[in-house]
Amino acid sequence: MNPLNDLLQTSLAKGPVPAAEVMALGLYHPEHGYYRRQTGPWGFDGKDYYTALDLGPLLGQTIALRLEAAWERLDRPAPFTALEPGAGRGWLGRDVLNAVSRPFAEALVYIHRDDNPAARRAAEEALAPFLTTNRARFVAETESLAPFTGAIFSNELFDALPAQPWRWESERWTREVLTASGPEWQAAEPGEAGAWFAAQTDGLEPRDGSIWCEALPRLVHELTSPLEAGLFLAVDYGESADRLLAKGADLRRFKAHSVDGKWHEDLGEADLTADVDFTRLAHLLEGEGFSNLGHVELSRWIRTHAPLDQWGAEWMSLPEADRMQRTENLLQLTLPGMMGSRFRVLEGWKEKID
Ligand SMILES: C[S@@+](CC[C@H](N)C(=O)[O-])C[C@H]1O[C@@H](n2cnc3c(N)ncnc32)[C@H](O)[C@@H]1O
Repeated sequence: MNPLNDLLQTSLAKGPVPAAEVMALGLYHPEHGYYRRQTGPWGFDGKDYYTALDLGPLLGQTIALRLEAAWERLDRPAPFTALEPGAGRGWLGRDVLNAVSRPFAEALVYIHRDDNPAARRAAEEALAPFLTTNRARFVAETESLAPFTGAIFSNELFDALPAQPWRWESERWTREVLTASGPEWQAAEPGEAGAWFAAQTDGLEPRDGSIWCEALPRLVHELTSPLEAGLFLAVDYGESADRLLAKGADLRRFKAHSVDGKWHEDLGEADLTADVDFTRLAHLLEGEGFSNLGHVELSRWIRTHAPLDQWGAEWMSLPEADRMQRTENLLQLTLPGMMGSRFRVLEGWKEKID
């Protein structure tokens, strides 16, 4: 069993532990955390979950088009740097780099940023041809980036940040904690989180709830301050703040391709996620100088930006297995009720300040 479970028991003997702290321990303990272990199995290899990247290159191909449009809007700068935080196995970067062609391809430099050691090894393999030609490189999360022009894009980064569920109980806010006998909702002083929630709704109903990600402002600032001008694009689970409040808050555990609410079990051996509050993410980006902020369902975003008729015609010349895979990829990302309707894409733009 992962040693984190003993560590957690020691903490619980001293008192309740907020859910966000349990999530931080399970995912980011420097040695045993799910995203910090030296070896897998992890994610898809561990059969815990798959992301849009496991389905095929369609997401990367569509992002490549958005990056190229940003490059045009910026008057074709060289280099055009595309930073991917939470880049994991590097598959999205690989798909983007494979999709671009000259002259944009000559300007594009891709930066992978993710301290997940098991994923890093997979990324070295996926990005190998681009690393040797200096079209891709790695940066550590602790490294500060020199100012750049280009884009920041991510897939399922923000839903993997430790987050605290809150719930409104008629007269007071409660937060989810783990006690020695299991999860409980306990009254707590909500501070900044409560003020944000109250401002996002016309009126709270009993059991309305939301998620508060403490680290979000710091991370948004850290990622976006070196970007002098360009695009911010994030693909993630989540909703706008008012919809999250009405839906209620929870943390989810992904293990062996099934999802449940047992976020406190199998620490370090299961993925934990929380919905992203897209209203707050957009609000923080606005504070960092971004405008034209908006978010839509992934399926709609793909249909808006990808030339699907043209791609469909091109797939006809592929071997049957590849053609089937592209079609399956397309259906998963564009049909109602499939992956494309569970995710949202947020975009924002930062103008150059002269
Ligand atoms: C759910 S995984 C997504 C991986 C990949 N984007 C994909 O779609 O397969 C989340 C990743 O975010 C990384 N991560 C978490 N916090 C981060 C941060 N502050 N900077 C960069 N990466 C981070 C984790 O190490 C983990 O690999």
